[in-house]
Amino acid sequence: MAEPKTAELMEKIVSLCKRRGLIFQSSEIYGGLNGFWDYGPLGSELKRNIKDSWWRSMTRFREDVVGLEASIIMHPRIWEASGHTSTFSDLMVDCLLTKKRFRADQVDPQSGTAYFYSGASDTVLGKECGDAFSVLLPPGKPPESARKTARLFYQDRGLQEPTLLGERNEPVQNTTRYNPENGSLLTEPRPFNLMLKTYVGPVESADNISYLRPETAQAIFVQFKNVLEVSRQKLPFGICQIGKAFRNEINPRNFTFRSREFEQMELEFFIKPDEAIEAICGSVAKPTGRGHPGEPQPNWGWQLWHQYWVEERLAFYESIGLPRNSLVEYWQKPDELAHYARATVDVLFKFPFSKRDANGELAGEELEGIAARSDFDLSQHQRFSGKSMTVFDEELKTAWTKLDPAKQTELAGRYQQTRLSYLTKTGEAPEKAARMAQEEAEGLGKGYFVPHVIEPSAGVDRLALALICNAYAEDQAPDEKGKMESRVVMRFHPRIAPVKVAVFPLLKNKPELVNKAKAVRDLLRAEMSVFYDEAGAIGRRYRRQDEAGTPFGITIDFDTLGEKGPELQDTVTLRERDTMKQERVKIGDLLRILTEKIR
Ligand code: GAP
Repeated sequence: MAEPKTAELMEKIVSLCKRRGLIFQSSEIYGGLNGFWDYGPLGSELKRNIKDSWWRSMTRFREDVVGLEASIIMHPRIWEASGHTSTFSDLMVDCLLTKKRFRADQVDPQSGTAYFYSGASDTVLGKECGDAFSVLLPPGKPPESARKTARLFYQDRGLQEPTLLGERNEPVQNTTRYNPENGSLLTEPRPFNLMLKTYVGPVESADNISYLRPETAQAIFVQFKNVLEVSRQKLPFGICQIGKAFRNEINPRNFTFRSREFEQMELEFFIKPDEAIEAICGSVAKPTGRGHPGEPQPNWGWQLWHQYWVEERLAFYESIGLPRNSLVEYWQKPDELAHYARATVDVLFKFPFSKRDANGELAGEELEGIAARSDFDLSQHQRFSGKSMTVFDEELKTAWTKLDPAKQTELAGRYQQTRLSYLTKTGEAPEKAARMAQEEAEGLGKGYFVPHVIEPSAGVDRLALALICNAYAEDQAPDEKGKMESRVVMRFHPRIAPVKVAVFPLLKNKPELVNKAKAVRDLLRAEMSVFYDEAGAIGRRYRRQDEAGTPFGITIDFDTLGEKGPELQDTVTLRERDTMKQERVKIGDLLRILTEKIR
């Protein structure tokens, strides 16, 4: 349970999101649609800025990453290869009384007394129901309340006046078998596939089933060869993509945190297997501790590349205003890792609704996962499509010929073992798997291999929510007459703030002020989002922009018109949202000053 204070904070944030046009409930006038959200005027700018920042840092400013924009619906075999058709499911449980559905791992453990019934009979109707049922009562609740719930259960099964049969009770500790809301027994957990199905073409038949993609990553894998060919990149290099993903989440919750439609920003960074690095460089560099490992080096294997991307991603979050102490770097434990992953780091943000750790501190919830996924993904698509996903590496081929035979045997042997282990796990017949692994190991010596992948995968909507939660603040600011009043201020970093600058003429009924203010607006808006506001007292206008998170405000006053002398002519006041400091700046310098601050 969230503490009352944090629940109250979330309420304020949700209400501000609606009031200021950051986030609306989808289909609100029809009662909403659970798990779907719309972004209003400010929210859509915020999301755009997040995606632009990510895109710039991932590909524009790098030589070794290129972009992709793939379709949402793809060939259904892709989801068989990726494992989504068979394993992309959550365990769900249903309340036997209300039919409400829960994710099994989200039912809080409870203790109390369980009341068991073997069935019920109805003498009026002369009927009996033999379904067993039980109810959990918290300590101190009278048994009659369990009986009342049980009678409802049997009434739902066709009895009018059920007489309960075979009642017995026993104390239970930390059980997750009962609905925390009403004590009713839940069904046994069963898997529920999260992919949203649709039909492609006019016929709704099993042959035409397709899925809305549950992640953007798979498109990158299936287009890997095309991109490699046209971009003339060489390993190590990456392909990144931003796009919608859909998951039929059992329990969408925590505002936009777990939605059914959301956007992802994913990078698949392709690297050589460690055996190839060892053959080329003599050895693979090992991490010497935590922290940024510096500029990429030719002798980096998957571990250093993984660490590099964890640090790059943390630096990105800091660059858009999430302080390091609001983030948690969580290294998944071996038993938490996906079967193909060698290591995964989750970047968590301390959302107000996060669970708390043993010390009462916010533990954080996942913003992004950075996984070292081995060569699993491309290997799967190679097997399922029958198309080669191997790359040829001239450097490896040359280096291999210079290795002594013992080293060649050792490296080829290690490579063969890993490939064999993968092929066996995926269910290839032992003989075939052994033959394939041997051929692949021989291929390594000739310079061929399936690339390995490091995958930083982030959610746009979760990041937007993290930035909103982080920005929300209440403080005191002076009103028109200098009297302190409370203000709500969204302290967005200027890089991601929805509106960068607000332009105000001091008075709206003075055409000279209005014309000048409009000229300033026009000067700036080619380069940044500008909000022009002439309505109301200037203090009120500042306050409205503080709440929208606009980092800068410009006021055009009589000094701007030169009424107090030529030295102030064509200067404006530039107000900074957080410090509320104002400075006099020449109009001619505005573009340079503001551009520096928002880049
Ligand atoms: N390709 C790997 C992948 O999709 P994931 O951990 O399932 O990994 C990556 O998703 C990111 O996508 C998460 O860290 C989160 O930011 C975002 N995400 C996943 N499910 C989401 C949901 N239901 N609602 C909002 N964002 C979600």
